[in-house]
Amino acid sequence: MMADEIIVIQGSTDKENYEQLIPQINSLINPDEPIISSLSNVTAALKSAFKKISWVGFYLLKDETLYLGPFQGKVACTQIKIGSGVCGTSAQTRETIIVEDVDKFPGHIACDSKSKSEIVIPLSRDNVLWGVLDLDSYSYSSFNAMDAKYLNELVKVLVQKLDFTKIKI
Ligand code: SME
Repeated sequence: MMADEIIVIQGSTDKENYEQLIPQINSLINPDEPIISSLSNVTAALKSAFKKISWVGFYLLKDETLYLGPFQGKVACTQIKIGSGVCGTSAQTRETIIVEDVDKFPGHIACDSKSKSEIVIPLSRDNVLWGVLDLDSYSYSSFNAMDAKYLNELVKVLVQKLDFTKIKI
């Protein structure tokens, strides 16, 4: 199916951006298509809507390892163990992690040396973890509690609409 272009009004605040974006992402997600297709479009929509994002992507869980999934940005690390780095810590604790300065996060995995701040949101439903959503920025402190709130809302839409038991990694 062809998707329309994602439209966010230029000059919007981040909050307005999320409010414009989430309903559009909701309509991009098609439960009848492979999950990977929806996740790919979600990363494209986020990257195009926010200039502050240098990299955005999913890491998907298989056998205690997070594997690189659909993403937008530079080539990235392909495997992260549960408990390692920001992604692996978020997967382990099942909590959203905001990192204002990546150099201050013990064990941060630097896929891109220019990355300065990061946010990771776990992707889980009914206590089952499917992966994480990771966003990076070239500026310090790019992500805050407001980003966490809207990105959690977005991830909730994904896990509710898509049947992750069908995902193949
Ligand atoms: N920085 C992440 C690794 C993934 S890249 O940022 C794309 C981490 O510490 O888990």
